[in-house]
Amino acid sequence: MHDDRWDAVDAYTTGLLQPADPVLEAAIKETADLPNIAVSAAQGQFLHVLARAIHARRILEIGTLGGYSAIWLGRALPDDGRLISLELEERHAEVARRNFARAGLEGKIEVQVGPALESLARLRANRGEPFDLTFIDADKRNTPEYFSAAVDLSHAGSLIVVDNVVRQGKLIDTESEDPDAEGMRRLIAQMGADRRVAPAVIQTVGVKGWDGFALALVVES
Ligand code: SAH
Ligand code: DHB
Ligand code: MG
Repeated sequence: MHDDRWDAVDAYTTGLLQPADPVLEAAIKETADLPNIAVSAAQGQFLHVLARAIHARRILEIGTLGGYSAIWLGRALPDDGRLISLELEERHAEVARRNFARAGLEGKIEVQVGPALESLARLRANRGEPFDLTFIDADKRNTPEYFSAAVDLSHAGSLIVVDNVVRQGKLIDTESEDPDAEGMRRLIAQMGADRRVAPAVIQTVGVKGWDGFALALVVES
């Protein structure tokens, strides 16, 4: 399901809100051989503003791909800010690191390669400073586990954002056993039951179709 007017509205608004950006354009070109599943320009800008609004200094991303969303988030960081992005595929991480270098963000963004569940377990064991913002955007079936880990790695006031929770309505197609949609159903139920967070889900349309973000403000960790 797609309506060309969604694309036209994205083009109209980003045309007015996003000046020409050779770094982001190059990042998109570099990822042409990877799956076309990065956030849209409008969504990237939305994440950037969220990160700025909460003065995020430590950001965790789960699912790097070619680094497009990480550039938007990395640019929101202050001078001493850091983003750790978790990625399964070395091939994706390599593309992303090149894109971070071109963006002048190589000093702020670190890609950790491996299954995110293992990287998250390591981050928890290392007991580093908590993250102010976590963006979850990797394999959808493990999203509930990523969410639990993100809450544990947060402090009161941290924000967790989850991409692709609506999946063109597959979220509510309980007949389907699509494990990705199933993962998102488990996530939403889990968010609703977790007293440590204030949750919200918002549907979106645009060049990436019909989808949505889940947001959770951590009130107690
Ligand atoms: N956030 C990116 C898009 C990420 S696409 C952007 O908007 O620009 C999802 C990424 O998650 C892919 O690169 C995929 O390789 C990675 N991924 C899939 N399974 C994973 C896992 N188990 N651990 C870590 N990363 C995983
Ligand atoms: C898929 C993953 C994404 O992160 C996304 O934004 C869209 C689709 C996917 O795995 O199908
Ligand atoms: Mg996504």
